[in-house]
Amino acid sequence: MTNSNGLFRKKTLEMILADTESEQYKLKKSLTAIDLVALGIGAIIGTGIFVITGVAAAEHAGPAIILSFVLAGLACAFAAISYAEFASMFPIAGSTYSYSYVALGEIFAWIIGWDLILEYVFALPAIALGWSGYFTNLLASIGINIPDWAAHSAWQGPGGLINLPAIGILLLVAALVYIGTRESATVNNIAVAFKVFVVLFFIVVAVWHVKPVNWHPFMPYGWKGIFTGAAIVFFAYIGFDAVSTAAEETKNPARDLPIGILGSLGISTILYIAVAAILTGVVSYARLNDPAPVAKALNIIGLNWARGLVSIGALTGITTVLLVMTYGSTRIIFAMSRDGLLPPAFSKLHPKFRTPTLAIYLIAIATSLVAGFLPIGIIAELVNIGTMLAFVLVSISVIVLRYTQPDLPRKFRAPGVPWTPLLAIIFVGALMASLPWETWVRLIVWLIIGLIIYFSYGRHHSKLAQQKQQLK
Ligand code: ALA
Repeated sequence: MTNSNGLFRKKTLEMILADTESEQYKLKKSLTAIDLVALGIGAIIGTGIFVITGVAAAEHAGPAIILSFVLAGLACAFAAISYAEFASMFPIAGSTYSYSYVALGEIFAWIIGWDLILEYVFALPAIALGWSGYFTNLLASIGINIPDWAAHSAWQGPGGLINLPAIGILLLVAALVYIGTRESATVNNIAVAFKVFVVLFFIVVAVWHVKPVNWHPFMPYGWKGIFTGAAIVFFAYIGFDAVSTAAEETKNPARDLPIGILGSLGISTILYIAVAAILTGVVSYARLNDPAPVAKALNIIGLNWARGLVSIGALTGITTVLLVMTYGSTRIIFAMSRDGLLPPAFSKLHPKFRTPTLAIYLIAIATSLVAGFLPIGIIAELVNIGTMLAFVLVSISVIVLRYTQPDLPRKFRAPGVPWTPLLAIIFVGALMASLPWETWVRLIVWLIIGLIIYFSYGRHHSKLAQQKQQLK
C-alpha cells in the first residue's frame, strides 16, 4: 500500500514536472521577492476595492467598512501563512489542487479542485462586472452612453437585458489566454505600478475633501454589519494564492514565497483601509451603491478631471486580475482532466498554441453567461464562500500533514502550527458564518453535484485508480 502510494506520488510529481518542463511551461528560476509581491498585487487589487467596497459600505457596514477590511485582512493573513507552507512543499508550479493530490489523496484533491472551479467560474464574472461599471462610466464621461439594455442585465439594474461590456472583456481575455498569453513579469510589473499609482493618486487628491461628519454614524449596522461587510470585501483579497503558483519560478522560495504572499497582502490591506476611509469620508456611505463608486466619489467632490484617470487605472488593474484568473482556471481544469478526473478532451492541447482549447471554451462560455445575466452581489458571495472553504481546507491540511508526513521537506515552515492555521479556521469560519444561508445552500448544492460527478466519472477514470489496478 505504502509502496503503491509512494510509486504514484513520484509518478504524479514526475508528470507535473514533465509538464512544467515542456516548452510551453518551461519556467526559469528568475523571480525575486519583489516580482512576487508585484505578481500578488497584480492578482489582488481589482473589482473588490474599486466596486465592492462601495456596495458593502452602503448596504452592510457603513463607514465601519474600514474595520471590515481589517477583519478580512487578518483572516487572509493567517490563511496565507499556511498557503506559503503548502506551496513550498513541492517543487512544482501548480495550484492547491495539485499539492493536495500528492499530499492528501484523490477525494480531497477533487473537492478542492471542484471548489476552485466554483471560485473561478464566479470570480471572473464578478471581476468583469466591475470592469464593465468603469467602462460604461468612462464612456459616459466623454459623452458616449451605452443603452441600458446592453449595459447591464435585468437583475443588475433597471431597463437591462444583457451586460455586453462584461461579456466582451471576458471573451477578449479568454482569447488572449487561448493564443498562449501568460502573465509576463515585466508587463505585470508595469500594470501593477500603474494600478498602485492610481490608488495612491485617489488617496492623495481625495484626502483633502474628507468631511469627518460623513463618518457619523460610524457603525450604522453594528458589529453584525461589520462582519457581513468583511465577508463581502473578502473578495478584494482573493488572488494572493496566485503567488504560490510561481513557486517553481522563484529564486529562493523559502524566503521569497512568504515575502511575496504576505507582502502583497500587507500592501493591499494598507491601501484598502486608506481607500475605504477616504471613500466613506468624502461621500456619505449611503451614496456609494454604484457600479463605479470611486469615480462617482471624485465626481461628487467636483474632481471630474481625476475621474478619467482613475477609471483607466481601474480598467487596467481589473484586466490583469482577469488574465491571471482566466489562466489559473483553465490550468486547473486541464490538470484535473490530465489526472483522469474530468474527461480527457479538457486537457487536449491546441496543436499550435499548446493551450487547453476546450477548457478555455468552457470557461469563456460559463463565465459569459453568469456575467451577462446575474447580479454582482450573489456572484461575489458565492466566490467568497468557495474561496473560504479552500482556505479552511488548506489550513486543516497543513496541520494534518505535520502529523502524518512530518519528514516531507518544507522549504517554508509556517510559524506557530497548529495555532496559526487554527486562527485562520476560526477567522475564516466566522466570515463564512456571516454569509447569508442562501449562499451556503448554493455551496452545498455545488459540492453535491461535484461528488455525483466524482463517483459516477472521476473515481473510475482516475489515472491513480488505473495505476493501482495495474500494481495489484
Ligand atoms: N481580489 C480580486 C479583485 O478584487 C479578485 O478583483
